[in-house]
Amino acid sequence: MTATHAPVPTAADSGSSATERFKADKSGNVANTSPERVDLLVREVLSAVHDTIRRHKVSYAEYNALKAWLIDVGETGEWPLFLDVWVEHVVEEVATEHREGNKGTIEGPYYVPGAPERGSRGSVPMREDEPGTPLLWTGRVTSTDGQPLEGAKIELWHADAEGLYSQFAPGIPEWNLRGTFSVEPDGSFEITTVRPAPYMIPTDGACGRLIAAAGWHPWRPAHLHVKVSAPGHEQLTAQLYFPGDQHNEDDVASAVKPELILDPKPSGDGKGETVVYDFALDPVRG
Ligand code: DHB
Ligand code: FE
Repeated sequence: MTATHAPVPTAADSGSSATERFKADKSGNVANTSPERVDLLVREVLSAVHDTIRRHKVSYAEYNALKAWLIDVGETGEWPLFLDVWVEHVVEEVATEHREGNKGTIEGPYYVPGAPERGSRGSVPMREDEPGTPLLWTGRVTSTDGQPLEGAKIELWHADAEGLYSQFAPGIPEWNLRGTFSVEPDGSFEITTVRPAPYMIPTDGACGRLIAAAGWHPWRPAHLHVKVSAPGHEQLTAQLYFPGDQHNEDDVASAVKPELILDPKPSGDGKGETVVYDFALDPVRG
């Protein structure tokens, strides 16, 4: 297979696209938080910052470095990247701790609603010479009691074999590796895609500079993103990972859970891999 060499996306490319995406889909859907709660939460966060400054005797030069960095994050649109890497995993943990069905994890900044519909057995949209190991994924969507959820929908999106996401890196067809799938009456589905590559946080922007300044690394393990929904059930947002990826243990976004690691097998034709992974969704609590 031929590799396509898309230009490497800059932090500003990914950041500004992620910021526009967030504004379009989610900024109208925010909590109407009471003054009491805003007061409580903001006071606690500021108090933690004040304690850190006192404990470590933070200097004016360090304070100015922080100010310059925060201004930069905003100017290049990197707030969605920063928040989804270093904060979202705890919001997800709190939001889903009551669930009995499948574990989920962070959504990240690169979900786009409305990906092309591909039925219950089909291929995600991809280029004719799409690089990467073919992956055939079969599974079922049920409720936590085991009943098949006939009306279920699976939205799948992921990076390509170079770690790049369509609509956020330049030079990739609009809906590449983004698709919406349905299920059969018994809850089953069969999706053809390719294995994504590990994802690197862009290193040329403010988040990259933080990572370098702190001596961290910029990697997320290879992952498939999914949103699984069905009438009367809580939507599951998850990511699925591949065994043996060196960043399953030190994901920069802290989003890997053991239940989310797939177990792919070589396929019979020797050209790719097959994997089985099912979803059980929690009924909406009455
Ligand atoms: C980021 C990118 C991802 O692909 C992801 O799944 C989570 C976070 C990011 O760059 O912030
Ligand atoms: Fe991702």
